[in-house]
Amino acid sequence: MARKPIMAGNWKMNIDHVEATGLVEKLHYTLVDREWDPAKSEAVLCVPFTDLRTVRTLIDGDRLHFGLGAQDVSAHDNGAYTGEISTAMLSKLGVGYVIVGHSERREYHGETDEIVNAKATKALSAGLTPIICVGEGLDVRKAGQHVEHTLAQVRGALAGLTAEQVASLVIAYEPIWAIGTGEVATAADAQEVCGAIRKEVAALYDEPTAEAVRIQYGGSVKSGNVAEIMGQPDIDGALVGGASLKPEEFAAIVCFY
Ligand code: G3P
Repeated sequence: MARKPIMAGNWKMNIDHVEATGLVEKLHYTLVDREWDPAKSEAVLCVPFTDLRTVRTLIDGDRLHFGLGAQDVSAHDNGAYTGEISTAMLSKLGVGYVIVGHSERREYHGETDEIVNAKATKALSAGLTPIICVGEGLDVRKAGQHVEHTLAQVRGALAGLTAEQVASLVIAYEPIWAIGTGEVATAADAQEVCGAIRKEVAALYDEPTAEAVRIQYGGSVKSGNVAEIMGQPDIDGALVGGASLKPEEFAAIVCFY
């Protein structure tokens, strides 16, 4: 079964709701100029919470072919969780995707595999598609433990999920040492781990589920390296940080084919 490529832009803590209008419109016109075919690749914008309504309105108003994502979600339904945002709140804003377990949240907010699993489970139960981030730090890579480390995170994140749920979600392999550094992993490095992730899903569930789940690579993806990365058999897309803030760059990544 062909997996539709998915390019997600993670704006991180950049672009307020006023700036978002300009960025989304420039991205749209750049993609029109490039004659982007949304049937050939999916483009998802994972924006700050404060931008969600603005970007949703732009997508609906101009009938843009962008998916809308958030960058985090609460594992709780509602109540005394100051500062958190629930799946219901995201769904009400027409959000379809949510990044969970990004290395920056694992590092700065102490998000464990258990918390990531709880967030992914909650997102799925609300009909949101989680983009589950996994990946190793430089020390683990240098020790040659990057595959084992990443697969342990995958097992932790997927605990208790059904095959059907796993088939529908996205796993993003983001080696921490490649995030924001310009140090992109080689296509072979990325394939090694993404291939191991797909094999692990097959072992945990079955071949059809492993064939269905989409696996992204993230970490210094740019227009100049996306084609080689996407040429790998087990890579179905990219989770893009810095380059997603530049319409020309992100449009070139979306139109990688
Ligand atoms: O979530 C994607 C991000 O971590 C990658 O960042 O700037 O290396 O593309 P960047």
